Amino acid sequence: MRLDKLLANMGYGTRNEVRKLCRERRVAVNGTIVTKSDAKVDEEKDTVTLDGVPVLYEKYTYFMLNKPAGFISATEGNEPVVMDLITEGIKGLFPCGRLDKDTTGLLLITNDGDLAHALLSPKNNVEKEYLVGTEKPVTESDIRKLAQGITIDGGVVCKPADCIPVNEKTCRLIIREGKFHEVKRMLEALDNRVVTLKRLRMKTLVLDETLAEGEYRPLTEEEIASLRGSE
Ligand code: URA
Repeated sequence: MRLDKLLANMGYGTRNEVRKLCRERRVAVNGTIVTKSDAKVDEEKDTVTLDGVPVLYEKYTYFMLNKPAGFISATEGNEPVVMDLITEGIKGLFPCGRLDKDTTGLLLITNDGDLAHALLSPKNNVEKEYLVGTEKPVTESDIRKLAQGITIDGGVVCKPADCIPVNEKTCRLIIREGKFHEVKRMLEALDNRVVTLKRLRMKTLVLDETLAEGEYRPLTEEEIASLRGSE
């Protein structure tokens, strides 16, 4: 990989900015100053430093974001987008899936397209768990309908969902696909309405409740391995 690409991908600036860092003799490879930013480096073996500080190369980045309300799940747009909350300049990051603007909670931000595809593909039945505040209580009959696969507007049949009441007007809902506004449409089909919606889990990845809304942290090695795993 080219040295400027490695540095730019890891968030050290644009290609032009990292070229300047090289010209200023601030970048070294294996202890030797390298001024030519198009130099080839082995990202797995070579030690690259900026001002003597090692640049850690990671092929992919994974962040868990506690999404606040008021942000669109997109990389750019006219309204505030979730990527505005990610301050690292790492290249190619995107939100894995969509939460509505008013939905809060777990959102995976990554540049690993294969993992995102695996998590979002409907054929993989990846579980998404939500904490749902409802206008009216969810009844036993509603829970049975959700478990059988409820038909939402337009005659679309949803995959079976597990609904676990938490209190009178709050439940945990586990769905296995990601249709547009799925949870809201499910509740509407039950003549009810979602008042608050927070995602708690995606597959094995559980929202870290120590993250305040708008905060994020890198995934641990265990969390990444478990998301990639078939279980
Ligand atoms: N279902 C919805 O209706 N909205 C979301 O944001 C996520 C799931």
